[in-house]
Amino acid sequence: MGQRTPRLKDFGFLLRVGLSVAVFAMLAGYGVAGYYLKQHYENRDEQPGLTLTDIEGAYKGAEVPPPMMGALEGGHPEGMPEADRQALIAWLTSETTERDYENFDLDPMPADVIFDNCLSCHARSPSDTDNAYTDMPLEYWDDIAPLMVTKRILPKDRKIVVASIHAHLPTMALVLIAMTGLAALTRWPGFLTGLVSIACGLGLIVDFAGQYYVRDAGFEWLLWGIVGGGTIYAAGVTVLGLAVIADCWLPGGRSGNQAKAGYTDDISQKPMQRPV
Ligand code: HEC
Repeated sequence: MGQRTPRLKDFGFLLRVGLSVAVFAMLAGYGVAGYYLKQHYENRDEQPGLTLTDIEGAYKGAEVPPPMMGALEGGHPEGMPEADRQALIAWLTSETTERDYENFDLDPMPADVIFDNCLSCHARSPSDTDNAYTDMPLEYWDDIAPLMVTKRILPKDRKIVVASIHAHLPTMALVLIAMTGLAALTRWPGFLTGLVSIACGLGLIVDFAGQYYVRDAGFEWLLWGIVGGGTIYAAGVTVLGLAVIADCWLPGGRSGNQAKAGYTDDISQKPMQRPV
């Protein structure tokens, strides 16, 4: 009978401390990487937080609809008469927004609709002080005009995407290889480690393929690959890392080699078994 695979639990105390600290540092590093991604991408669409449009903008290019349009179509403000809402939307989608802003021939005149429905909150000195949004006054044409433009987010240059992939993909794959190898030496069932590792590896490939191909016609769906693949990779590596640390310190989980004759704590000291 040959020896069973050594287990992390068979390693000496300091070795397990060192391993745990290193794996923890790796996980912390990925935490910071996540924070960096948020910081780096979140402002592309000028909406707070990291949105899908931020990521779409970075790799594919995106159009951010005018905030005025987004607000009105999104049902803001609540309780606005439907006729007024439709009148503003029609005005916003026309070619003559600036000219018609105070066009007395229009019924209702856009400036009046805005006065009636918006200025209680969107003014420098609003009447509805509790719900006001003084940072975005809508009192004059000059206030409104910047909120009517469609903004285009230009994607990163493909050369930059390639430069980023060539640095990130091999290192992230190496981290996965290391974590898979270590997790294979734990008490956790090998098939589980294998499944997590397969999902992680595929996630990684789909993520990076997405970063490169999502801008090509017919590959728009890869936006979900970037987000989903990246999330699966991050989650999987975290699970493997935590499983490794847990295995080092939870009771039990030794290889069982020591049960055999010539027990010693150091597996390199085992008597060799030569075929006769
Ligand atoms: C009862 C107060 C109130 C009224 C009335 C109101 N708003 Fe607002 N509006 C807000 C507040 C508060 C915010 C910021 C928080 C938010 O986004 O909900 C806001 C946000 C917005 C934004 C920014 C949305 C974004 O995507 O960032 C736009 C554009 C906007 N309002 C347009 C309008 C227009 C046009 C009207 C009138 C038709 C109107 N609002 C009426 C309170 C109001």
